[in-house]
Amino acid sequence: MTHTRDSFHSRIGFVLAAAGSAIGLGNIWGFPTQAANNGGGAFLFVYLLVTLLLALPALYAEIYIGNQAQKNPVAALKDACQDSLPNVGKYAGIIGLCGAIMMLSFYTIVAGWMLAHALSAFTELLGLTSISQWLSTSSTERNLLFTPLFILLGAAIIHQGVNAGIEKWSARLMPLLLVMLIGLIIYILRQPGAEKGLALYLIPDFSQVTNPKLIISAMGQAFFSLSIGVGGMMVYGSYMQKGKDIGKLALSITALDTFIAFMAGLLIIPALFVAQEAGVKVFSNNELIGEGQLIFRILPELFNSMGDVGLIVSSCFFLLLSIAALTSTISSTEVPVSYLMEDKSFTRSKATWLVSFVVLCASMLLIAFFDELFGLVIRLLTTILQPLSCLFYFIVVGWLWNRGNKLRDKSLQEGRKWLPLWGNYLRFVCPLLLTVVFVNVAILN
Ligand code: PHE
Repeated sequence: MTHTRDSFHSRIGFVLAAAGSAIGLGNIWGFPTQAANNGGGAFLFVYLLVTLLLALPALYAEIYIGNQAQKNPVAALKDACQDSLPNVGKYAGIIGLCGAIMMLSFYTIVAGWMLAHALSAFTELLGLTSISQWLSTSSTERNLLFTPLFILLGAAIIHQGVNAGIEKWSARLMPLLLVMLIGLIIYILRQPGAEKGLALYLIPDFSQVTNPKLIISAMGQAFFSLSIGVGGMMVYGSYMQKGKDIGKLALSITALDTFIAFMAGLLIIPALFVAQEAGVKVFSNNELIGEGQLIFRILPELFNSMGDVGLIVSSCFFLLLSIAALTSTISSTEVPVSYLMEDKSFTRSKATWLVSFVVLCASMLLIAFFDELFGLVIRLLTTILQPLSCLFYFIVVGWLWNRGNKLRDKSLQEGRKWLPLWGNYLRFVCPLLLTVVFVNVAILN
Protein backbone atom coordinates (compact mmCIF):
# COMPACT_ATOMS: atom_id res chain seq x y z
CA MET A 1 0.00 0.00 0.00
CA THR A 2 1.37 3.42 -0.84
CA HIS A 3 0.52 6.57 1.05
CA THR A 4 0.56 10.05 -0.35
CA ARG A 5 3.09 11.80 1.85
CA ASP A 6 2.02 14.62 4.06
CA SER A 7 3.76 17.90 3.51
CA PHE A 8 4.00 21.43 4.77
CA HIS A 9 2.03 23.83 2.65
CA SER A 10 4.54 26.63 2.83
CA ARG A 11 8.06 27.55 3.79
CA ILE A 12 6.73 29.38 6.79
CA GLY A 13 4.83 26.24 7.76
CA PHE A 14 8.12 24.40 7.91
CA VAL A 15 9.87 27.13 9.89
CA LEU A 16 7.05 27.31 12.41
CA ALA A 17 6.91 23.56 12.87
CA ALA A 18 10.69 23.23 13.14
CA ALA A 19 10.93 26.17 15.54
CA GLY A 20 8.03 24.64 17.47
CA SER A 21 10.04 21.47 17.75
CA ALA A 22 13.20 23.27 18.81
CA ILE A 23 11.62 25.63 21.32
CA GLY A 24 10.44 23.71 24.33
CA LEU A 25 11.36 22.56 27.79
CA GLY A 26 14.99 22.37 26.68
CA ASN A 27 15.05 26.14 26.44
CA ILE A 28 13.11 27.10 29.51
CA TRP A 29 13.77 24.26 31.89
CA GLY A 30 16.99 22.63 30.60
CA PHE A 31 19.11 25.58 29.58
CA PRO A 32 18.76 27.75 32.71
CA THR A 33 19.23 24.71 34.99
CA GLN A 34 22.40 23.69 33.15
CA ALA A 35 23.72 27.24 33.01
CA ALA A 36 23.19 27.75 36.74
CA ASN A 37 24.89 24.42 37.48
CA ASN A 38 27.87 25.14 35.24
CA GLY A 39 29.03 28.61 36.15
CA GLY A 40 26.49 30.82 34.31
CA GLY A 41 28.36 33.06 31.89
CA ALA A 42 31.03 30.50 31.04
CA PHE A 43 28.31 28.02 30.11
CA LEU A 44 26.49 30.60 28.01
CA PHE A 45 29.71 31.41 26.17
CA VAL A 46 30.55 27.77 25.35
CA TYR A 47 26.91 27.08 24.49
CA LEU A 48 26.87 29.87 21.90
CA LEU A 49 30.15 28.70 20.45
CA VAL A 50 29.04 25.07 20.15
CA THR A 51 25.70 26.12 18.67
CA LEU A 52 27.38 28.12 15.95
CA LEU A 53 30.27 25.78 15.15
CA LEU A 54 28.58 22.38 15.47
CA ALA A 55 24.86 22.36 16.20
CA LEU A 56 23.87 24.69 13.35
CA PRO A 57 25.84 22.66 10.74
CA ALA A 58 24.37 19.44 12.17
CA LEU A 59 20.88 20.90 11.89
CA TYR A 60 21.63 21.79 8.29
CA ALA A 61 22.92 18.29 7.54
CA GLU A 62 19.92 16.65 9.18
CA ILE A 63 17.33 18.75 7.32
CA TYR A 64 19.27 18.35 4.08
CA ILE A 65 19.38 14.55 4.22
CA GLY A 66 15.63 14.36 4.89
CA ASN A 67 14.77 16.96 2.30
CA GLN A 68 16.72 15.27 -0.49
CA ALA A 69 15.32 11.83 0.28
CA GLN A 70 11.70 12.89 0.88
CA LYS A 71 11.42 9.80 3.05
CA ASN A 72 11.30 8.89 6.75
CA PRO A 73 14.67 9.03 8.61
CA VAL A 74 15.41 5.30 8.45
CA ALA A 75 14.80 5.16 4.69
CA ALA A 76 16.48 8.55 4.13
CA LEU A 77 19.74 7.49 5.81
CA LYS A 78 19.64 4.16 4.03
CA ASP A 79 19.21 5.96 0.70
CA ALA A 80 22.03 8.38 1.39
CA CYS A 81 24.39 5.49 2.21
CA GLN A 82 23.08 3.37 -0.67
CA ASP A 83 26.37 3.24 -2.58
CA SER A 84 28.56 2.49 0.38
CA LEU A 85 26.91 1.13 3.51
CA PRO A 86 23.12 0.95 3.16
CA ASN A 87 22.67 -1.22 6.24
CA VAL A 88 24.75 1.08 8.41
CA GLY A 89 22.51 3.94 7.29
CA LYS A 90 19.41 1.98 8.12
CA TYR A 91 20.62 0.99 11.58
CA ALA A 92 21.73 4.53 12.33
CA GLY A 93 18.18 5.57 11.45
CA ILE A 94 16.79 2.99 13.83
CA ILE A 95 19.14 4.13 16.61
CA GLY A 96 17.89 7.68 16.03
CA LEU A 97 14.36 6.37 16.29
CA CYS A 98 15.19 4.81 19.67
CA GLY A 99 16.65 8.19 20.68
CA ALA A 100 13.32 9.78 19.83
CA ILE A 101 11.56 7.30 22.13
CA MET A 102 14.14 7.99 24.88
CA MET A 103 13.51 11.70 24.50
CA LEU A 104 9.78 11.19 24.77
CA SER A 105 10.10 8.95 27.83
CA PHE A 106 11.45 11.70 30.08
CA TYR A 107 10.11 14.70 28.23
CA THR A 108 6.49 13.65 28.74
CA ILE A 109 7.16 13.40 32.50
CA VAL A 110 8.51 16.95 32.72
CA ALA A 111 5.74 18.21 30.45
CA GLY A 112 3.27 16.59 32.84
CA TRP A 113 4.79 18.68 35.67
CA MET A 114 4.12 21.79 33.58
CA LEU A 115 0.48 20.81 33.07
CA ALA A 116 0.09 20.10 36.78
CA HIS A 117 1.54 23.50 37.70
CA ALA A 118 -0.76 25.28 35.24
CA LEU A 119 -3.74 23.56 36.84
CA SER A 120 -2.41 24.19 40.32
CA ALA A 121 -2.49 27.96 39.83
CA PHE A 122 -5.91 27.72 38.25
CA THR A 123 -7.40 25.66 41.13
CA GLU A 124 -5.84 28.03 43.66
CA LEU A 125 -7.61 30.87 41.90
CA LEU A 126 -10.87 28.98 42.37
CA GLY A 127 -10.14 28.57 46.06
CA LEU A 128 -9.48 24.80 45.85
CA THR A 129 -6.39 25.04 48.00
CA SER A 130 -5.83 21.40 48.87
CA ILE A 131 -6.11 20.26 45.23
CA SER A 132 -3.79 23.07 44.22
CA GLN A 133 -1.29 21.96 46.89
CA TRP A 134 -1.38 18.39 45.62
CA LEU A 135 -0.89 19.55 42.04
CA SER A 136 2.17 21.61 42.87
CA THR A 137 3.90 18.95 44.97
CA SER A 138 5.89 16.33 43.11
CA SER A 139 4.73 12.79 43.72
CA THR A 140 4.62 9.47 41.89
CA GLU A 141 0.81 9.68 41.81
CA ARG A 142 0.97 13.04 40.10
CA ASN A 143 3.37 11.60 37.52
CA LEU A 144 1.09 8.63 36.99
CA LEU A 145 -1.78 10.96 36.17
CA PHE A 146 -0.17 13.71 34.14
CA THR A 147 2.36 11.80 32.03
CA PRO A 148 -0.32 9.64 30.35
CA LEU A 149 -2.54 12.71 30.00
CA PHE A 150 0.20 14.52 28.15
CA ILE A 151 0.95 11.52 25.91
CA LEU A 152 -2.74 11.34 25.04
CA LEU A 153 -2.84 15.03 24.11
CA GLY A 154 0.16 14.57 21.81
CA ALA A 155 -1.33 11.48 20.18
CA ALA A 156 -4.58 13.34 19.51
CA ILE A 157 -2.67 15.95 17.50
CA ILE A 158 -0.25 13.66 15.64
CA HIS A 159 -3.04 11.42 14.63
CA GLN A 160 -4.53 14.24 12.50
CA GLY A 161 -1.45 14.43 10.27
CA VAL A 162 1.17 16.96 9.45
CA ASN A 163 -0.59 19.88 7.91
CA ALA A 164 -3.87 19.63 9.78
CA GLY A 165 -2.27 18.98 13.13
CA ILE A 166 1.31 20.11 13.34
CA GLU A 167 1.29 23.25 11.25
CA LYS A 168 -1.73 24.67 13.01
CA TRP A 169 -0.51 23.88 16.49
CA SER A 170 3.02 25.07 15.98
CA ALA A 171 1.75 28.39 14.79
CA ARG A 172 1.19 31.55 16.68
CA LEU A 173 1.52 30.68 20.34
CA MET A 174 5.26 31.16 20.56
CA PRO A 175 5.14 34.97 20.26
CA LEU A 176 2.89 34.92 23.30
CA LEU A 177 5.47 32.95 25.23
CA LEU A 178 8.10 35.50 24.28
CA VAL A 179 5.93 38.43 25.42
CA MET A 180 5.41 36.72 28.77
CA LEU A 181 9.11 36.02 29.13
CA ILE A 182 9.94 39.67 28.49
CA GLY A 183 7.33 40.86 30.99
CA LEU A 184 8.64 38.49 33.66
CA ILE A 185 12.25 39.48 33.00
CA ILE A 186 11.38 43.14 33.49
CA TYR A 187 9.63 42.26 36.75
CA ILE A 188 12.40 40.07 38.16
CA LEU A 189 15.22 42.43 37.31
CA ARG A 190 13.67 45.02 39.62
CA GLN A 191 13.73 42.71 42.65
CA PRO A 192 16.54 42.72 45.26
CA GLY A 193 19.24 40.16 44.52
CA ALA A 194 18.61 40.06 40.76
CA GLU A 195 21.83 41.90 39.92
CA LYS A 196 23.92 39.04 41.38
CA GLY A 197 22.20 36.58 39.05
CA LEU A 198 22.60 38.93 36.12
CA ALA A 199 26.34 39.25 36.75
CA LEU A 200 26.76 35.48 37.07
CA TYR A 201 24.91 34.94 33.81
CA LEU A 202 26.42 37.65 31.67
CA ILE A 203 30.03 37.88 32.86
CA PRO A 204 31.82 34.66 31.91
CA ASP A 205 34.53 33.31 34.16
CA PHE A 206 36.97 32.32 31.42
CA SER A 207 38.92 30.01 33.72
CA GLN A 208 35.85 27.74 33.53
CA VAL A 209 35.45 27.47 29.76
CA THR A 210 37.87 24.59 29.37
CA ASN A 211 36.20 22.51 32.06
CA PRO A 212 35.28 19.21 30.31
CA LYS A 213 32.06 18.77 32.26
CA LEU A 214 30.96 22.22 31.18
CA ILE A 215 31.85 21.60 27.53
CA ILE A 216 30.04 18.29 27.29
CA SER A 217 26.97 19.68 29.08
CA ALA A 218 26.89 22.69 26.77
CA MET A 219 27.21 20.49 23.71
CA GLY A 220 24.47 18.12 24.87
CA GLN A 221 22.23 21.06 25.69
CA ALA A 222 22.83 22.69 22.29
CA PHE A 223 22.03 19.48 20.40
CA PHE A 224 18.98 18.81 22.52
CA SER A 225 17.71 22.34 22.17
CA LEU A 226 17.90 22.26 18.37
CA SER A 227 16.18 18.83 18.34
CA ILE A 228 18.98 17.28 16.31
CA GLY A 229 20.30 13.72 16.30
CA VAL A 230 17.04 11.81 16.67
CA GLY A 231 15.61 12.30 13.18
CA GLY A 232 12.90 14.82 14.08
CA MET A 233 14.33 17.59 11.95
CA MET A 234 15.05 15.06 9.20
CA VAL A 235 11.42 14.05 9.02
CA TYR A 236 10.31 17.70 8.93
CA GLY A 237 12.88 18.35 6.20
CA SER A 238 11.37 15.48 4.24
CA TYR A 239 7.93 17.09 4.44
CA MET A 240 9.25 20.23 2.72
CA GLN A 241 9.48 20.51 -1.05
CA LYS A 242 12.97 20.29 -2.49
CA GLY A 243 14.86 23.34 -3.67
CA LYS A 244 14.45 25.61 -0.65
CA ASP A 245 17.43 27.43 0.80
CA ILE A 246 18.11 25.13 3.75
CA GLY A 247 21.00 27.28 5.02
CA LYS A 248 18.68 30.22 5.60
CA LEU A 249 16.04 28.02 7.20
CA ALA A 250 18.50 26.37 9.57
CA LEU A 251 19.88 29.75 10.52
CA SER A 252 16.46 31.19 11.36
CA ILE A 253 15.53 28.16 13.47
CA THR A 254 18.84 28.35 15.34
CA ALA A 255 18.52 32.09 15.94
CA LEU A 256 14.98 31.79 17.28
CA ASP A 257 15.79 28.85 19.51
CA THR A 258 18.97 30.37 20.92
CA PHE A 259 17.25 33.67 21.57
CA ILE A 260 14.49 32.02 23.60
CA ALA A 261 17.03 30.00 25.62
CA PHE A 262 19.02 33.17 26.30
CA MET A 263 15.88 34.97 27.46
CA ALA A 264 14.88 32.08 29.71
CA GLY A 265 18.30 32.29 31.37
CA LEU A 266 17.79 36.00 31.83
CA LEU A 267 14.63 35.21 33.77
CA ILE A 268 15.53 32.11 35.75
CA ILE A 269 19.08 32.84 36.89
CA PRO A 270 18.28 36.24 38.43
CA ALA A 271 15.10 34.64 39.87
CA LEU A 272 17.27 32.06 41.66
CA PHE A 273 19.18 34.84 43.38
CA VAL A 274 16.05 36.81 44.22
CA ALA A 275 14.69 33.66 45.88
CA GLN A 276 17.99 33.17 47.69
CA GLU A 277 17.82 36.74 48.94
CA ALA A 278 14.34 35.97 50.25
CA GLY A 279 15.74 33.05 52.26
CA VAL A 280 15.16 30.04 49.95
CA LYS A 281 18.06 27.61 49.84
CA VAL A 282 18.97 27.30 46.17
CA PHE A 283 22.53 26.00 45.92
CA SER A 284 24.38 23.42 47.93
CA ASN A 285 28.11 23.06 47.10
CA ASN A 286 27.64 25.22 44.01
CA GLU A 287 25.11 22.77 42.56
CA LEU A 288 21.42 23.47 42.26
CA ILE A 289 19.37 21.52 44.75
CA GLY A 290 17.12 18.73 43.42
CA GLU A 291 17.88 17.45 39.94
CA GLY A 292 16.02 19.70 37.55
CA GLN A 293 13.17 20.29 39.96
CA LEU A 294 14.30 23.61 41.30
CA ILE A 295 12.60 25.88 38.81
CA PHE A 296 9.35 24.43 40.08
CA ARG A 297 10.16 25.95 43.47
CA ILE A 298 11.63 29.16 42.16
CA LEU A 299 8.99 30.11 39.61
CA PRO A 300 6.02 29.68 41.97
CA GLU A 301 7.97 31.78 44.50
CA LEU A 302 8.25 34.48 41.86
CA PHE A 303 4.56 34.30 40.94
CA ASN A 304 3.54 34.37 44.62
CA SER A 305 5.40 37.61 45.11
CA MET A 306 3.08 39.23 42.56
CA GLY A 307 -0.06 38.70 44.64
CA ASP A 308 -3.31 37.52 43.04
CA VAL A 309 -2.26 38.50 39.53
CA GLY A 310 0.59 36.06 40.02
CA LEU A 311 -1.83 33.15 39.91
CA ILE A 312 -3.13 34.14 36.50
CA VAL A 313 0.39 34.78 35.24
CA SER A 314 1.51 31.43 36.63
CA SER A 315 -1.35 29.53 35.07
CA CYS A 316 -0.76 31.13 31.64
CA PHE A 317 3.00 30.69 31.82
CA PHE A 318 2.85 26.98 32.63
CA LEU A 319 0.11 26.46 30.07
CA LEU A 320 2.24 28.05 27.37
CA LEU A 321 5.15 25.87 28.43
CA SER A 322 2.93 22.82 28.14
CA ILE A 323 2.01 23.84 24.61
CA ALA A 324 5.66 24.49 23.74
CA ALA A 325 6.41 21.00 25.07
CA LEU A 326 3.63 19.54 22.98
CA THR A 327 4.97 20.97 19.72
CA SER A 328 8.39 19.54 20.65
CA THR A 329 7.09 16.04 21.26
CA ILE A 330 5.29 16.07 17.91
CA SER A 331 8.50 15.99 15.86
CA SER A 332 9.97 13.15 17.92
CA THR A 333 6.80 11.10 17.69
CA GLU A 334 6.64 11.70 13.96
CA VAL A 335 9.99 9.85 13.55
CA PRO A 336 8.72 6.34 14.44
CA VAL A 337 5.24 7.14 13.11
CA SER A 338 6.53 8.05 9.63
CA TYR A 339 8.75 4.95 9.64
CA LEU A 340 5.87 2.64 10.53
CA MET A 341 3.61 4.24 7.92
CA GLU A 342 6.03 4.29 5.03
CA ASP A 343 8.12 1.20 5.59
CA LYS A 344 5.70 -1.04 7.48
CA SER A 345 2.40 0.00 5.87
CA PHE A 346 0.70 1.08 9.10
CA THR A 347 -2.10 3.62 8.94
CA ARG A 348 -1.30 6.93 10.63
CA SER A 349 -3.79 6.21 13.33
CA LYS A 350 -2.44 2.75 14.15
CA ALA A 351 1.16 3.96 14.06
CA THR A 352 0.36 6.85 16.39
CA TRP A 353 -1.34 4.67 18.99
CA LEU A 354 1.38 2.04 18.89
CA VAL A 355 4.15 4.62 19.34
CA SER A 356 2.21 6.35 22.11
CA PHE A 357 1.82 3.05 23.89
CA VAL A 358 5.56 2.32 23.68
CA VAL A 359 6.30 5.82 25.00
CA LEU A 360 3.84 5.28 27.83
CA CYS A 361 5.58 2.04 28.85
CA ALA A 362 9.00 3.70 28.68
CA SER A 363 7.93 6.68 30.76
CA MET A 364 6.27 4.42 33.33
CA LEU A 365 9.59 2.61 33.68
CA LEU A 366 11.28 5.94 34.33
CA ILE A 367 8.68 6.89 36.90
CA ALA A 368 9.09 3.54 38.66
CA PHE A 369 12.88 3.91 38.86
CA PHE A 370 13.01 7.67 38.87
CA ASP A 371 16.17 8.21 40.92
CA GLU A 372 18.16 5.66 38.97
CA LEU A 373 16.90 6.31 35.45
CA PHE A 374 15.68 9.88 34.95
CA GLY A 375 19.02 11.70 34.97
CA LEU A 376 20.79 8.79 33.34
CA VAL A 377 18.49 8.66 30.30
CA ILE A 378 18.80 12.43 29.81
CA ARG A 379 22.61 12.25 29.96
CA LEU A 380 22.80 9.20 27.69
CA LEU A 381 20.62 10.83 25.07
CA THR A 382 22.02 14.35 25.08
CA THR A 383 25.71 13.76 25.70
CA ILE A 384 26.21 10.49 23.81
CA LEU A 385 23.48 9.47 21.40
CA GLN A 386 22.66 12.87 19.91
CA PRO A 387 26.30 13.96 19.34
CA LEU A 388 27.15 10.54 17.85
CA SER A 389 24.16 10.73 15.50
CA CYS A 390 25.28 14.19 14.44
CA LEU A 391 28.78 12.88 13.80
CA PHE A 392 27.18 10.26 11.59
CA TYR A 393 25.20 12.92 9.67
CA PHE A 394 28.45 14.79 8.96
CA ILE A 395 30.07 11.59 7.72
CA VAL A 396 27.05 10.81 5.56
CA VAL A 397 26.89 14.24 3.97
CA GLY A 398 30.67 14.55 3.64
CA TRP A 399 31.80 11.06 2.76
CA LEU A 400 29.24 8.31 2.28
CA TRP A 401 26.58 9.93 0.14
CA ASN A 402 27.62 10.09 -3.49
CA ARG A 403 24.76 10.48 -5.93
CA GLY A 404 22.53 13.56 -5.75
CA ASN A 405 24.53 15.25 -3.02
CA LYS A 406 25.06 18.87 -4.06
CA LEU A 407 27.58 19.40 -1.31
CA ARG A 408 30.00 16.98 -2.92
CA ASP A 409 29.09 16.97 -6.59
CA LYS A 410 31.18 19.58 -8.43
CA SER A 411 28.82 19.81 -11.39
CA LEU A 412 25.93 20.72 -9.11
CA GLN A 413 27.83 23.51 -7.40
CA GLU A 414 28.09 25.97 -10.27
CA GLY A 415 27.09 29.51 -9.47
CA ARG A 416 26.86 28.84 -5.73
CA LYS A 417 30.27 29.74 -4.42
CA TRP A 418 29.53 29.21 -0.76
CA LEU A 419 28.38 25.64 -1.31
CA PRO A 420 31.81 23.98 -1.78
CA LEU A 421 33.15 25.91 1.19
CA TRP A 422 30.25 24.89 3.36
CA GLY A 423 30.54 21.32 2.09
CA ASN A 424 34.18 21.20 3.10
CA TYR A 425 33.39 22.64 6.50
CA LEU A 426 30.85 19.86 7.10
CA ARG A 427 33.18 17.28 5.61
CA PHE A 428 36.43 18.02 7.40
CA VAL A 429 36.05 20.49 10.23
CA CYS A 430 32.82 19.35 11.89
CA PRO A 431 33.61 15.63 12.33
CA LEU A 432 37.09 16.50 13.53
CA LEU A 433 35.86 19.09 16.01
CA LEU A 434 33.23 16.75 17.37
CA THR A 435 35.73 13.93 17.73
CA VAL A 436 38.23 16.20 19.47
CA VAL A 437 35.58 17.24 21.98
CA PHE A 438 34.64 13.62 22.60
CA VAL A 439 38.17 12.35 23.00
CA ASN A 440 39.17 15.21 25.25
CA VAL A 441 36.21 14.73 27.47
CA ALA A 442 36.75 10.96 27.63
CA ILE A 443 40.42 11.44 28.57
CA LEU A 444 39.90 14.32 30.96
CA ASN A 445 37.02 12.68 32.75
N1 PHE B 1 14.37 20.81 21.29
C1 PHE B 1 13.35 20.43 22.20
C2 PHE B 1 13.41 21.34 23.43
O1 PHE B 1 14.29 22.13 23.54
C3 PHE B 1 13.46 19.00 22.62
C4 PHE B 1 13.60 18.00 21.51
C5 PHE B 1 14.73 17.20 21.42
C6 PHE B 1 12.59 17.84 20.56
C7 PHE B 1 14.88 16.26 20.42
C8 PHE B 1 12.72 16.90 19.54
C9 PHE B 1 13.87 16.13 19.47
O2 PHE B 1 12.60 21.27 24.28
